[in-house]
Amino acid sequence: MPHPPDWPASVIAIFGASGDLTWRKLVPALYSLYLGGWLPERFAIMGVDRKELDREAFLARLRNGVDRFSRWGKSRDKDWEAFARRIILYRAADFGDPQAYRALGRALDGLDREWQVQANRIYYLAVPPLVFGLVADKLGEAGLSQDCERSRIVVEKPFGRDLESARALNRKLAEHFREYQIYRIDHYLGKETVQNLLVFRFANAIFEPLWNRRYIDHVQITVAERGGVEHRGGYYENAGALRDMIQNHLLQVMCLIGMEPPVSLEDEEIRNKKMDVLRAVRPVRPEEIHHYAVRGQYGAGWIEGQYYPAYRDEPRVDPDSSTETFAAVKLFIDNWRWQGVPFYLRTGKRLPVRVSEVAIQFNPVPHFSFPARMVGDWQPNRLGIRIQPDEGIIMRFQAKRPGLDMRLGMVNMRFTYREAFRNIPPEAYETLLLDVMQGDKTLFMRADHAEVAWQVVMPIMEAWAAVIPDFPNYPAGSWGPEAAEALIAVDGRSWIQPAVETAGQNEEEETERVPRGASPAGAGKRSRVKETAS
Ligand code: BG6
Repeated sequence: MPHPPDWPASVIAIFGASGDLTWRKLVPALYSLYLGGWLPERFAIMGVDRKELDREAFLARLRNGVDRFSRWGKSRDKDWEAFARRIILYRAADFGDPQAYRALGRALDGLDREWQVQANRIYYLAVPPLVFGLVADKLGEAGLSQDCERSRIVVEKPFGRDLESARALNRKLAEHFREYQIYRIDHYLGKETVQNLLVFRFANAIFEPLWNRRYIDHVQITVAERGGVEHRGGYYENAGALRDMIQNHLLQVMCLIGMEPPVSLEDEEIRNKKMDVLRAVRPVRPEEIHHYAVRGQYGAGWIEGQYYPAYRDEPRVDPDSSTETFAAVKLFIDNWRWQGVPFYLRTGKRLPVRVSEVAIQFNPVPHFSFPARMVGDWQPNRLGIRIQPDEGIIMRFQAKRPGLDMRLGMVNMRFTYREAFRNIPPEAYETLLLDVMQGDKTLFMRADHAEVAWQVVMPIMEAWAAVIPDFPNYPAGSWGPEAAEALIAVDGRSWIQPAVETAGQNEEEETERVPRGASPAGAGKRSRVKETAS
């Protein structure tokens, strides 16, 4: 295995080592890094969790996760055994038990002696948010956070459940760790396509001149999930779509779309530029929330012939739950670049497809040189940035249809990762874990970042908490509640439904169905059949 020779020795100590995240994401990602030769030669994994497991059972669980979720597929015995030798400790203990931390400290010191280097110590908090503070305290009390250069703490989301708790958590972490030791994860930032937003915008000269209020009508960010809440009802009941997705993943994507060009790729530079976007988000006044935010909860329904129960019937969900499984918000960024350009963000569970996409809708042409009879349906240009699946970018524009007469039709110019690069992109957690080992903080949230993101959603959360919603209000397999349509329709626009299977195909047939002679007037605000939600 070609280990990068000069990479620092690292130990990752996972709190919550027998949990879902470790099984599904962390260890499969570490295994992929190992197979790809990305782990330092001196590398080890340690685990702490409440569950009693012997080493054999622990390793069997981790291998099962690797076989199911690693992008390399089922592990080969030889590879797994070599990787498993790096998993050197599992300790069943309560997270408040000081002995567990002393034992961890001894094991870490032992490795330093054996390796004859001072290894980086990464404490990964894959634990329920309620114990983040406790683990940080115990690490601090055991002296495990003292070495500021070597010890790092990784904190999973949700980072608090509101502004106040996020501030409290920041204060708690700061008691034991300096800010540069703290890595607040938002796994969306590790996705290849999300990182590509920086490259797309700032490594190409042609988009930046158009990237502003003069040319862009509005932006839509959709993160649709086909899955329901599944076994995570216990967590989700206290979260909901606004906290679980909008406060972090969708706002982060919005920052990358909205930020000013960075002077360099220094982590602080990128984070400052993103922070400027969040700080410029126009606060929504409580009495106006209903114009800016809509929530929903799925009822029972069908997706592709399969019946799915209502959210309220999912395990560990209150039968009268008011938790939203869908949220849509309209935000404005009050600065020179974006003044007056709405950013529509929406996310939901049990929607018809799993797809995450950013749509940049450009303004219509300023003057229609082509008579309406040639045009049919005049659609303004649109850039679709597909985050997942079928990762890629689609530019929509008008073209002359082949023929002796002059008739126009919409076509798509398409870039896909699969076709262009022909390799499987790394999982977000691979990128993020590697960044922690290398001390690169670009893709992690800073303390102030987390707090300002809460500030953005707090008025909505508070307004929603004050009123009991009439749930469920959308069936599984639909694109959310009707009110979500109204949210955008009042502005003369409509949601763009990402067509997963047909993405990238030219849309001529569809344009053909539109009555001839339709007036181009107001074309930027008109919806097509495909764009109108069910
Ligand atoms: C997590 C949320 O952060 O992101 C989940 O807690 C959600 O509710 C998941 O399903 C979506 O991530 P991805 O990478 O599958 O889009």
